[in-house]
Amino acid sequence: MSTASFSLLLCFLCFFSSLNSQSDELQVLLNVKTAFQKSNTNVFNSWVSSNSICNFAGITCNSGNSVTEIELSYQNLVGVVPLDSICKLPSLEKLSLGFNSLSGSISDDLNKCTNLRYLDLGNNLFSGHFPEFSSLSQLQHLFLNLTGLSGVFPWKSLENITGLVTLSLGDNPFYPTPFPLEIVKLTKLNWLYLSNCSIGGTIPQDIGNLSELINLELSDNNMSGEIPSQIGLLKNLWQLELYKNSLTGKLPVEIGNLTKLEKFDASMNYLEGGLSELRFLTNLVTLQLFENELSGEIPMEFGQFKKLVNLSLYGNKLTGPLPPQLGSWANFIFIDVSENYLTGPIPPDMCKQGTMEALLMLQNNFTGEIPASYASCTTLKRFRVSKNSLSGTVPAGIWGLPIMNIIDIEFNQFEGPVTSDIRNAKALGQLFLGYNRLSGELPGEISGATSLVSIKLNDNQFSGKIPETIGELKHLSSLHLENNMFSGSIPESLGSCDSLSDLNIAHNLLSGEIPSSIGSLPTLNSLNLSENQLSGQIPDTLSSLSLSLLDLTHNRLTGRIPQSLSIEAYNGSFAGNSGLCSQTVSTFQLCKPEAGMSKDVRTLIACFGVGAAILVLSLVYFLYLKKKEKDHERSLKEESWDVKSFHVLGFGEDEILDSIKEENLIGKGGSGNVYKVALANGKELAVKHILNTDSCGRNKSWSTTPMLARRGGKSKEFDAEVHTLSSTRHVNVVKLYCSITSEDSSLLVYEYMPNGSLWDRLHTSTKMELEWETRYEIALGAAKGLEYLHHGCDRPIIHRDVKSSNILLDEFLKPRIADFGLAKIVQANGGKDSTHVIAGTHGYIAPEYGYTYKVSEKSDVYSFGVVLMELVSGKRPIEPEFGDNKDIVDWVSSNLKSKERVLSIVDSRIPEFFKEDVVKVLRIAILCTERLPSLRPTMRSVVQMLREAEPCKLAGIVISKDGASKKKEVTDKGKFSPGV
Ligand SMILES: *[C@@H]1O[C@H](CO)[C@@H](O)[C@H](O)[C@H]1NC(C)=O
Ligand SMILES: *[C@@H]1O[C@H](CO)[C@@H](O)[C@H](O)[C@H]1NC(C)=O
Ligand SMILES: *[C@@H]1O[C@H](CO)[C@@H](O)[C@H](O)[C@H]1NC(C)=O
Repeated sequence: MSTASFSLLLCFLCFFSSLNSQSDELQVLLNVKTAFQKSNTNVFNSWVSSNSICNFAGITCNSGNSVTEIELSYQNLVGVVPLDSICKLPSLEKLSLGFNSLSGSISDDLNKCTNLRYLDLGNNLFSGHFPEFSSLSQLQHLFLNLTGLSGVFPWKSLENITGLVTLSLGDNPFYPTPFPLEIVKLTKLNWLYLSNCSIGGTIPQDIGNLSELINLELSDNNMSGEIPSQIGLLKNLWQLELYKNSLTGKLPVEIGNLTKLEKFDASMNYLEGGLSELRFLTNLVTLQLFENELSGEIPMEFGQFKKLVNLSLYGNKLTGPLPPQLGSWANFIFIDVSENYLTGPIPPDMCKQGTMEALLMLQNNFTGEIPASYASCTTLKRFRVSKNSLSGTVPAGIWGLPIMNIIDIEFNQFEGPVTSDIRNAKALGQLFLGYNRLSGELPGEISGATSLVSIKLNDNQFSGKIPETIGELKHLSSLHLENNMFSGSIPESLGSCDSLSDLNIAHNLLSGEIPSSIGSLPTLNSLNLSENQLSGQIPDTLSSLSLSLLDLTHNRLTGRIPQSLSIEAYNGSFAGNSGLCSQTVSTFQLCKPEAGMSKDVRTLIACFGVGAAILVLSLVYFLYLKKKEKDHERSLKEESWDVKSFHVLGFGEDEILDSIKEENLIGKGGSGNVYKVALANGKELAVKHILNTDSCGRNKSWSTTPMLARRGGKSKEFDAEVHTLSSTRHVNVVKLYCSITSEDSSLLVYEYMPNGSLWDRLHTSTKMELEWETRYEIALGAAKGLEYLHHGCDRPIIHRDVKSSNILLDEFLKPRIADFGLAKIVQANGGKDSTHVIAGTHGYIAPEYGYTYKVSEKSDVYSFGVVLMELVSGKRPIEPEFGDNKDIVDWVSSNLKSKERVLSIVDSRIPEFFKEDVVKVLRIAILCTERLPSLRPTMRSVVQMLREAEPCKLAGIVISKDGASKKKEVTDKGKFSPGV
């Protein structure tokens, strides 16, 4: 070998062994840029070879111009981290790549980054396990929270990293482990975040060694046993988070030594005993201990806590009064002490600083009046004191607080009126005043509270007329005035409350006729006017409603019961009206025809008349049908059609129009009929036919879809659907080929899904035996479809009606999200999206609709969680066995107390072998259905978590099939990257 080529080889070797010139470091950074080239970011604009590397955005150098820091967090990065390159940077001390969409695995090359002091890979979409990393012995800050990493974490590696100050490993589905004792040797730690990463066992006593800790978070794990007394040694602790574990026993006396503690949350455990040890924690800012078994009194010292702004103790067994000065010092925001046995008055000064947002004291034994001070608490959004023994008059100002969402004072002994101040309550959605002694007239100014959705004034002593202005409440969906002394007539204007679904004015002193306008309420589902003095005839318009409850009993109604109401379902709806007559209901007198003829003649004429009428009617009907058939065919062909296509079409509009006929009908939905069309080329399509005018889709139950205005031209649902689907492209979102519209009707042409909907396959007579793997694939696919809608488009699309009947299945049972009739594209201005319409379907609607009516992606996540529960349990979202007013979410959460009960949730048709995999998915479902939207994961992390729950992993050994699908994962992810 010649010397020249030998030295070339040497040089080549030295290039790979270490880098010491700036051009080598430049090469590394250009490799990084290439690895992340598909990212939607400008950060690399300055990363060009003409520039000095030390001037690259996100790069910091030392005095020798060698790279010491790479800071690329929050840059929309996609791709795989090229650690083999990066770890060649000889001086690299900080690598910060958090809050991106990085994927793939973390390679062992990480161990070559021996100088690293700061490593942040958190909040990404990595997969696989984290490599052993004991050679990073200089590490001080390690952020791996919410990485997507799973499997066994190399806890042993921590042993050598004694200088660690920050350790953040939470929100990863790691392999379950008892508390890793390596951690309690890291005595320099001041930040330990281990929430939600599958840690079990007890909190070790040696936790007391970590005396530098300011933050200790162990929430949302499977920890049991008592909180060790050594916790009292953590004198610097500022935050202690232990919520959602299975901790038992009392709070240790030593916890009183944590006098620097500002945030303490041990909610959702099984803690018992009293709170008295907490009386020394004078720096508490937020204290949350809800849903435990705590008892005894609330320490009076809490009333002197100068920083306290948030106190949540609901669902315990606490007794005695609240400290009178509670909340009077700092900018107090929130109290929830509901569901205890507390007594005494409501502390008067919690809004003293004018910042309070929620006062929640439901279901206790509080007494006394509502302190006058709250009448000027303009920041208050939620005021709920129902089910106590409160009395006196409600301070007038409370009725008109400007941003109040809910006033709930039901089941107390309040007296006095609702005042005209209520006209100022512009944000008030729910007014719950039932079961009190309120009296006086309901002020007409109530129409100023334009956001009202639900009014419950039942079981009080209200009198006077129901104000005519009530018709101005366009969002009003439920009106309960029963058991009062309202008199006068029912206002005709009620017929303009277009959203009304539930009307109960029973047991008042109302007289006059039933306004026929009630029959035009498009979504009315339950109507109770019983026990009044209503007279006159039952308006024929009521026949057009489809009611699940109709009660007109005990009035003074007269005349004929409309024919269509004389059916079994309404048996008993008319009793106690002696003036009513009917031709069919035997308990009523037969309706008398005109007087003046003998009985026989009358009968004869009646028989003849009926016979003739039947004959004529049949004839007319026959002709009508004939004509309709013709009309139908002709009308479709004769209209002029406007075709908009969104995909390449292999068919013409005529072929579609020809197929819209009875024999091809495959379904009827709220927004129109669906036909199956077989094209000459063999392809099958589904066509939804929507009539533009009339028909408010009464065939749907009240809870299904709000009736959106359809007057004049195309429906909003149609527009929403076309708008959404024309711009989306994803394998798990149903494909809209084209829309064909005319003056009167619209056709939407979709791909045909031979396996119908998931609902049908799970719950109806046409259900199939779906294996767990299939259910899992359906869950994952549907999740990806939603992830795409939320994160993959220009602006997030919120579906608003996610449910198993809107998840369609193709011939391979691959799922597609369908029915975008309610979808909303989030407006660029954000925030302003709080439509006051309850969209969605009963059983799938997120609880926040109940109090804010705000639409967000997280509401879809909730509904998706319900679908996961259906897949896991095989049950419908609402089943009688769940109990009164309970849905599947309540049912699941009531069955989490023991392993046996958890397993009993799982569909018995799923083999034992898969039970553990199924429980993983159940866990995701529970996360998705968290009450607080902010606690629910994004669809992106749902997809990630579902991937980790892939079945066929036997005791950690990955079956080969898995390897193949892992590859697929990477390409799939590329497709979801932003901007595609
Ligand atoms: C999670 O990691 C990010 C960095 O990726 C960090 O900013 C954040 O503080 C961490 N959260 C916790 C609770 O440690
Ligand atoms: C810790 O470091 C020492 C030497 O620095 C090494 O011998 C040992 O294997 C390391 N421990 C672990 C757990 O890697
Ligand atoms: C708090 O710590 C001190 C020692 O610093 C100790 O004397 C005292 O007993 C502790 N108090 C509690 C309530 O544990």
